[in-house]
Amino acid sequence: MQEERLQKVISRAGVASRRQAEELILAGKVKVNEQVVTELGVKVSSRDKVKVDGKLIRRENPVYLLFYKPKGVITTTKDERGRKTVLDYLPRVKERVYPVGRLDYNTEGLLVLTNDGHLTNKMIHPRYELKKVYRARIEGMATEEALDKLRVGVELEDGMTSPALVQKLEYEPMRDYTVIEITIHEGRNRQVRRMCEAIGHPVLQLKRTQVGNLTLEGLRRGQSRELTKEELRELKALLRQDKNDESDDSAEKSTKTKKPMKSMQPKRTRK
Ligand code: URA
Repeated sequence: MQEERLQKVISRAGVASRRQAEELILAGKVKVNEQVVTELGVKVSSRDKVKVDGKLIRRENPVYLLFYKPKGVITTTKDERGRKTVLDYLPRVKERVYPVGRLDYNTEGLLVLTNDGHLTNKMIHPRYELKKVYRARIEGMATEEALDKLRVGVELEDGMTSPALVQKLEYEPMRDYTVIEITIHEGRNRQVRRMCEAIGHPVLQLKRTQVGNLTLEGLRRGQSRELTKEELRELKALLRQDKNDESDDSAEKSTKTKKPMKSMQPKRTRK
């Protein structure tokens, strides 16, 4: 029977991040089969009952889904106003999955859903600078000078944006709009819309085409599929901070070493 580290099991259940799970263990707040465990090396199988602060945690197989969210769908699991949610498109998924980050109601495109809390935390953490690529149709004829402002960073009410990669794809004179591809790694609320508004070219249509190594290729609107092993391995490699990070099973570790991303911390050595 497969065994996994206790902190990994706890963080995947969405109770805490990996580091917080370690702290909970060290603080004596975790029980395995009614025994308090305070060591970090302990491994558990699916038969073991794990409690955190007296509460039994949910144990599920990890599920990683790629979903092509259509426009007019809300990126939450419930909506009081009865609007369609992303879960309405995934009726056959038994596990409790959650969207990683958000897409606006009127934005379509790539959304990852998972029950792996640890991976979710990493994907949305600014430190890993996971790139997101959007195709935006924006009002008017955007000049290179205007787009340069996005490339440098624009001032929004919540601060300057990091430099974006921007490519002008086409200008449609009859309907007076420009299509751009913009790559950012931050994940602020309505960021692309606000950035384009800030340069005087409001967004008419927005689609996320890529997150990290994941693309929409082969999916139609409303369709979903599981990530392949290779995609998951690559995604985790992009999010790997250092060799001492216990975030992945060694079996899942990539043999390729990717260049660390700019903002990453120096490697720590195990004492
Ligand atoms: N930026 C936006 O403005 N909206 C989204 O849905 C995603 C990024």
